[in-house]
Amino acid sequence: MPVEIPSPQPLNPHVAAMQPSATLAMSARAKARRRAGHDVISLSAGEPDFDTPAPVVEAAHQALREGFTHYTPNAGIPELREAIAEKLRRENGLEVEAAQVLCSNGAKQSVAQAVLALCQPGDEVLIPAPYWVSYPEMARLVGATPVIVETTPESHYTMTPEQLDDAITERTRLLVFNSPSNPTGAVYSPEEMAALAEVLQAHERVFVVSDEIYEYVLFDAVHTTFGALPGMAERTVTVNGFSKGYAMTGWRLGYAAGPQWIISAMAKVQSQFTSAPSSITQKAGLAALAMSREPIEEMVAAFRRRRDFMLDRLAHWPEVDCPKPEGAFYLFPDISSHFGRTASDGTVIGGSEDFAMYLLEQHDVATVAGHAFGADYGLRLSYAASMEDLEKAATRIEAALDGLN
Ligand SMILES: Cc1ncc(COP(=O)(O)O)c(C=O)c1O
Repeated sequence: MPVEIPSPQPLNPHVAAMQPSATLAMSARAKARRRAGHDVISLSAGEPDFDTPAPVVEAAHQALREGFTHYTPNAGIPELREAIAEKLRRENGLEVEAAQVLCSNGAKQSVAQAVLALCQPGDEVLIPAPYWVSYPEMARLVGATPVIVETTPESHYTMTPEQLDDAITERTRLLVFNSPSNPTGAVYSPEEMAALAEVLQAHERVFVVSDEIYEYVLFDAVHTTFGALPGMAERTVTVNGFSKGYAMTGWRLGYAAGPQWIISAMAKVQSQFTSAPSSITQKAGLAALAMSREPIEEMVAAFRRRRDFMLDRLAHWPEVDCPKPEGAFYLFPDISSHFGRTASDGTVIGGSEDFAMYLLEQHDVATVAGHAFGADYGLRLSYAASMEDLEKAATRIEAALDGLN
């Protein structure tokens, strides 16, 4: 974790209570160890290890050459908003116009602005766990209370309609939904999502932020868009972006689409905080939407091969249970049977953070502890790494498991 600097004066209590991003912290720690001369293999990355496709890069060059380097309208250039609306109608079955699309500096900003626009202090925000690290912190920042709904490896990390129904109170304002999921790779089936939507239909005050950033990184499953389910269009903000599907994490481009009044409120927040995303990036995003799907398909095929390789290796790890993920590029094994064991230097593995530190410091493999995702029994392994690195990492993890008494 980054070192906490003591505050000589009180901070905003919501900010003081926030946790820094554990995934970014682990990547930084792995890099620091590598700089110190260790041969660290990182399975902690939350981004594709592929280059941005050439047509996207070329569009950015062209934007620069043409001097397209000024502020754009706050919500994004009209042609990009239109292209996104068209994509959402064609691929996702969402009946949205360009005016209902807000382009932001990444899906992360889109989720944050939706939470900020919809929630107030005292509201409850439902978050199925294991969850993406930022959701609870975003809720806390607006003074809302994150309410965690636990899922299990046995249920393939999906929340049941009964669990959703039980978690809803008169204070519930929002469900933050993420399929395919970071950190588990779980993908809800259309039937499972329809059953969740049916529960929500009885609760008019509850809105949904559906984070669909891993939509294209999908194996045998199909992607379902929450907002396209019966009765959900009026109360769902669909969030997506270019980071994962187009290997564009550094470009910072995401978007939200939904009911006009929510999008307008989110745009107002954006206009006072950051303004529109970079003009050059927006042109690049336009090219991404127009290009052939071949580079994406090749990337997803590579992820599938890596997932299968890692699952084969994991199957032989003693007492480690891992549901087969159907999307994203993460595995989330349950490693809790190894808690209580002792490393050769006397370190006792008390929980997932100890386990992740043991892997990093004694076996040079960087992972992210399940604790950060609200599931201390697990460990997130990202397979956005080369086959060679995965092979080495698997061998090292096997040695690490063998090395515990
Ligand atoms: C579930 C989820 N949502 C959003 C993001 C952030 O996406 P962006 O790069 O578009 O801000 C990530 C990145 O790790 C993610 O895993």
